Amino acid sequence: MRRVTLTQFLIEQQRKGLMGADLRLLMEVVARAVKAIAVNVSKGALAGVLGEAGSDNVQGEAQKKLDVIANDILIQANEWGGHLAAMASEEVEEIQPISSDYPKGGYLLLFDPLDGSSNIDVNISVGTIFSVLRSPEGSQTATEADFMQPGTAQVAAGYSVYGPSTQLILTVGDGVHGFTLDREMGSFIYTNPYMTIPEDTKEYAINASNERFWEAPIQRYVSELKAGADGPRGKDFNTRWVASMVADVHRILTRGGVFMYPLDSKMKDKGGKLRLMYEANPMALIVEAAGGAATTGRERILDIQPTKLHQRVPVVLGSKNEVELVTRYHLEG
Ligand code: AHG
Ligand code: MN
Ligand code: MN
Repeated sequence: MRRVTLTQFLIEQQRKGLMGADLRLLMEVVARAVKAIAVNVSKGALAGVLGEAGSDNVQGEAQKKLDVIANDILIQANEWGGHLAAMASEEVEEIQPISSDYPKGGYLLLFDPLDGSSNIDVNISVGTIFSVLRSPEGSQTATEADFMQPGTAQVAAGYSVYGPSTQLILTVGDGVHGFTLDREMGSFIYTNPYMTIPEDTKEYAINASNERFWEAPIQRYVSELKAGADGPRGKDFNTRWVASMVADVHRILTRGGVFMYPLDSKMKDKGGKLRLMYEANPMALIVEAAGGAATTGRERILDIQPTKLHQRVPVVLGSKNEVELVTRYHLEG
């Protein structure tokens, strides 16, 4: 069997006119960074990379050593290639302009260097999420305002999962494509062409310990799922919750499902748990490109006009018919 590498895939996308050389370079560089992160994640205790970093990030969350390592890898890999105007990361409060030591390019890269940090120390899958925007024309020095573009403006998005195998999933507008890391060869092999999400599902993902804090529409929806074959849905549903969004979304891309991190009264003033620009938007772009849907319960995630880099939003995404039902309950409510 002839194996197609990520490099060959990207060159073919370029030939089809789906991306230019700069975006291709960007994707290659992100993939290289993902390989380096995978090496660190998989060494675990042997490399002394587990545990707390002893610092807090901009969200006030305690950083794990691997949060910091993954962030540094992504920044160092991307700062010198000339393809970016600036970067932004979950782990850094301010945007990261490209230093004057290097040429600047036309793209903005946003990332969650390590998603699912609470799972690192227990050897459960974590991942990296990224989103690519165009730097506004005529913008000489990058500012936070340059990043304030809705998710529909993303030119590419992707995530990796560091699980039993390391996978990289991406979209540049023409469907969702998955690659699996061949560790001996050090290259990503094209294993999952045109991934799609079935419209219906019997699986849902939510942190049910927050149930008493949810809004009424989510309480209603989940109680109907739990009532199963005896309730209004007339069929049994199963719960899955990894607590790494990448792993939960990856399962949904593989066999369907609905993932929810809804608004709850504990974090109402924050707007939600997940971050719009480097968690919700890239995942929403991927899920929609795979035939699924992604809303806040009230509006399409990709249509939100961001006002802050680290803005949070409620997230409901996955199999289309379930997302539409949850959204209908909110709008009726
Ligand atoms: P991060 O590790 O980047 O802060 O993101 C964690 C997120 C997401 O991956 C996951 O779905 C959710 O937080 C888990 O939340 P709970 O702790 O409520 O399960
Ligand atoms: Mn995250
Ligand atoms: Mn993170």
